[in-house]
Amino acid sequence: MLRVSAFRLLGRRGASRVSLLEDFSFRYYSSGPLGVRDDTRDSRAYFTTPIFYVNAAPHIGHLYSALLADALCRHHRLRVPSDAATGFSTGTDEHGLKIQQAAAAAGLAPSELCDRVSAQFQQLFREADISSTDFIRTTEARHRIAVQHFWGMLKSRGLLYKGLYEGWYCASDECFLPEAKVTRQPGPSGDLCPVSLESGHPVSWTKEENYIFRLSQFREPLQQWLRGDPQAVTPEPFHHTVLQWLEEELPDLSVSRRSSHLHWGIPVPGDDSQTIYVWLDALVNYLTVIGYPDAEFKSWWPNTSHIIGKDILKFHAIYWPALLLGAGMSPPHRIYVHSHWTVCGQKMSKSLGNVVDPRTCLDRYTVDGFRYFLLRQGVPSWDCDYYDEKVVKLLDSELADALGGLLNRCTANKINPSGIYPAFCATCFPSEPGLVGPSGRAQAEDYALVSAVATLPKQVADHYDNFQIYKALEAVSSCVRQTNGFVQRHAPWKLNWESPVDAPWLGTVLHVALECLRVFGTLLQPVTPSLADRLLSRLGVSSTERSLGELHFLSRFYGHPSPFEGRRLGPETGVLFPRLDQSRSWLDESVGFENIDRSFKPTDEG
Ligand code: ME8
Ligand code: MG
Repeated sequence: MLRVSAFRLLGRRGASRVSLLEDFSFRYYSSGPLGVRDDTRDSRAYFTTPIFYVNAAPHIGHLYSALLADALCRHHRLRVPSDAATGFSTGTDEHGLKIQQAAAAAGLAPSELCDRVSAQFQQLFREADISSTDFIRTTEARHRIAVQHFWGMLKSRGLLYKGLYEGWYCASDECFLPEAKVTRQPGPSGDLCPVSLESGHPVSWTKEENYIFRLSQFREPLQQWLRGDPQAVTPEPFHHTVLQWLEEELPDLSVSRRSSHLHWGIPVPGDDSQTIYVWLDALVNYLTVIGYPDAEFKSWWPNTSHIIGKDILKFHAIYWPALLLGAGMSPPHRIYVHSHWTVCGQKMSKSLGNVVDPRTCLDRYTVDGFRYFLLRQGVPSWDCDYYDEKVVKLLDSELADALGGLLNRCTANKINPSGIYPAFCATCFPSEPGLVGPSGRAQAEDYALVSAVATLPKQVADHYDNFQIYKALEAVSSCVRQTNGFVQRHAPWKLNWESPVDAPWLGTVLHVALECLRVFGTLLQPVTPSLADRLLSRLGVSSTERSLGELHFLSRFYGHPSPFEGRRLGPETGVLFPRLDQSRSWLDESVGFENIDRSFKPTDEG
């Protein structure tokens, strides 16, 4: 029998590395049935969130992960507008010691706890407009079949062996820890208790015979994969972290537990005395959803983007690709990693009592408002702090005042009494500043605006590709400000439709501003789907004109006809986004609200 201690293997290591490198010769790099890897236009794409533990109710961190995935997926659909082209899965992680213990503590059967909390996640995601195409629960039969099949693949390829595993185990994090990652902290009774250095959760000493996966053999293949694709793990600092981990020793990994100790899980095929390790079980969810082991899954894999929090990077960027290579498959196309939300500077935790309930936030700030806030303020590379004051300020200034105000100014009856998309006058706003003649009124800043908005869709797409959705929103917001400046500069409310001198220019100012709004509405669809829908409907943009391919910004300026010129605007839909900083009693009770700057007001009403 082989003897393995956590992160230290005391025994023979199995097959040589050379043969493995040949074995796993990166089908990934060739263009398989999915064809294109870098041009997402023609290929299927599959997005995933982590599947969430059901030991506690969802909080804003979970919602944030789901929103990032949702926005990426919706943006992809804007590029490739065909439902068949995109898959998007989320779900709940229901097996393992952590759930087994949480159920026991709550006096529930594990399945009862799972049903209850999984339903909460499903309801939250429905309410938050998460457009997932599947919700997987790891207790489903389809998943057991996939996991047991995957296990069989590893087994048949000689990558599993039985050995004595000895080391620290952290049930809260469901992971093994080396001695160096364990520290002692005073427990409830004052005695020193061993805890995980990283998470602070208690650990216990485990010594048992398990099935062990030959992870150590995958160090070089993993390095080769990551070096060959610098964006495999995005953003870059996380890619670097993974490569650094791979500089260290990579011990084999215990992938089962004694059933007497862990009964809440999937049994090892052919050995009921062992239950499959919950992380192997959980990771395979990504394959279950796309139909694995049926061949159909190959039309989706590996063109997959996993969206995860930094806390589970090692599982996704080391264990998972190694397991996939082991089972004869390619690593995922992208692993997008984000950092954490803290609350008033503190880690969110049940014991601190500072967990922010996402459903309260959706109620207070509206679904689109809260989606916009989390995606606009969340920066994947570092932790972000949550407090209510910040939400109100941001939404009032960017959605209510800047965007809502702009729409209102260009569509209000007073300024646009005919209720149509006015005509663009090419002599007032010629395609080059040098051509501005006596009737021309466009100024240098106006050309700067047109060029900024014309390049905005590409900029936004690049930010999405780099998992910098907050930068995409910053860029949109900056163009909204610029457009407000344009309207302010030309003060259309001072121009007169009756005057033959004013009218063409007045129409042109409104036409340009409406074209800018059409671009903003189109680009905001992934983040604020219902607000964007109302905006585009108000502009008279039909459902078939809302993809990136149909955008054609300001075509009249570039000498082409415009399908919008002369079109009737959609029906009046009321205020686009109501200001929050008014008559809301809860505001004054909210955390961090004392210092709010109430001075920001729309400065330039027409
Ligand atoms: O780890 N800020 O599930 P989990 C931002 N079941 N995001 C946060 C967050 C915070 N404060 N806290 C959690 C598990 N998250 C496993 C995953 S996947 C095969 C199995 C998000 O319920 C973040 O995405 O602990 C993190 O990775 C995930 O929730 C962990 O959720
Ligand atoms: Mg967790």
